Amino acid sequence: MIKKIAVLGAGVMGSEIAQAASAGGVDVVLLDSDPAALERGLAHVGKIGARRVERGRMSADEAAAILARVRPTADAADVGDCDLAIEAVPEVMDIKRTVFGVLDKALPAGAILASNTSGLSISELAATTGRPDRVVGLHFFNPASVMKLVEVIRGSSTSEATLAEAEEFAKALGKVPVRVRECPGFLVNRILVRAMVEAYREAASIGAGMAEADRAVVDAGPAPMGAFALGDLIGLDTMGHIQSDLQAAYGDRFDDAGQIAAQVAAGRQSLVLVPEIGLTPQLVERFRRRFRGTGIALLHSGLTDRQRLDADPLAAQKTAQVKSAFLGASASYATAVAYRDKLVEHLLAAFRLTPPSPEKAAIEQRLADDPDDKAAKKDALQHLVAHGGPGLDVMLRVCVNDAATATPGFAGSDIAKSMQVVATSTLFRFGELSHRLAEIYNG
Ligand SMILES: NC(=O)c1ccc[n+]([C@@H]2O[C@H](COP(=O)([O-])OP(=O)(O)OC[C@H]3O[C@@H](n4cnc5c(N)ncnc54)[C@H](O)[C@@H]3O)[C@@H](O)[C@H]2O)c1
Repeated sequence: MIKKIAVLGAGVMGSEIAQAASAGGVDVVLLDSDPAALERGLAHVGKIGARRVERGRMSADEAAAILARVRPTADAADVGDCDLAIEAVPEVMDIKRTVFGVLDKALPAGAILASNTSGLSISELAATTGRPDRVVGLHFFNPASVMKLVEVIRGSSTSEATLAEAEEFAKALGKVPVRVRECPGFLVNRILVRAMVEAYREAASIGAGMAEADRAVVDAGPAPMGAFALGDLIGLDTMGHIQSDLQAAYGDRFDDAGQIAAQVAAGRQSLVLVPEIGLTPQLVERFRRRFRGTGIALLHSGLTDRQRLDADPLAAQKTAQVKSAFLGASASYATAVAYRDKLVEHLLAAFRLTPPSPEKAAIEQRLADDPDDKAAKKDALQHLVAHGGPGLDVMLRVCVNDAATATPGFAGSDIAKSMQVVATSTLFRFGELSHRLAEIYNG
């Protein structure tokens, strides 16, 4: 039974994992070499609690207890009585190897050493320790205080007992662990980052508006957040490490045409989120969810409500810029919806070209009974992807382009470029998903 853990690295993920563990009743030693990072990490844990109290999801006492269970330190000797350590330092093998060496010495014999790596080799990390059977991958997703999925990765020497204890720990925090075979990117990032990279690459090649593309994704409903907002949330530098590792492992399908590295080299920390005017990712998300397609005025009032902005002499100018960007996207909204509907029409036509089968007949019957049945349309699209055969890629591209030319006022508009990025990356994500799952599970 794991009662006390160490989390190494108090950044984006470390602070979130510390919160998730402490909320699950576990004592946490939060260790970082940078005192400022420790301070920010602890403040982040406090902020999550404060927000939950504000929304009535948690009592003030509970939030205070969660914060009190997280003990910040810069001294590795403080992990000496922990049952488990989870490292969440940067996605760079050399840094992780060094940290594993330190933890291996400082932890009690028999404690589990876990890495939150997004895709580096657990076996390679384990080999730097004297306890390879106790080393495991515990890959939480961002934000770990909310996301339920945890990938549990077995290295070549990880023992069955270690895997079982790691799973047990994740479950005790209310998470859903899945065991995943060791390979670069594991399961989720091989699918997710592939789709994200496609969006970066295509946006660059056709000059599409990233914010608009993201907005269209959210409005069209395939994902709660677009590729670029997600990249910002993950952190562009971390995104860059993950992308280059996956490109090195799998080649061109993870090629982003150098987009992420170029943005990192230019010192940009965000492409579509706007932290400089005080919009946190969470706030942006809330706006996106609440104001799908319309509430620009409310977005504006939400922005100007913020006293911090009122005190900022540049606030009015920056707010106007954001507002006009959002208004631009909103004006194209009707065109985007028309395009989406046309695209679905074309995809349904492609679905009807797939070989006959009882499953296909059942979907066709549901569509005949109710041509607006959304679930049936979704099943038809999934059926198309699963049974489209070797010509699927071409068929999907034809659908994307035919829908574009068949939508009045669409061709050549900014929204056209963005929507085509979205359509292409979303459809290919579906295709990629079934393909990759088969590949991963079949070895
Ligand atoms: N950001 C995401 O969305 C996300 C999601 C899942 C997994 N991950 C993985 O989690 C890990 C951490 O990513 P992050 O985004 O939290 O990074 P981050 O840059 O936000 O945080 C890393 C922290 O590690 C600290 N650190 C660096 N070297 C250290 C050392 N030697 N000893 C102690 N602390 C040290 C830094 O001061 C920093 O606070 C990476 O492996 C990443 O791939 C990230």
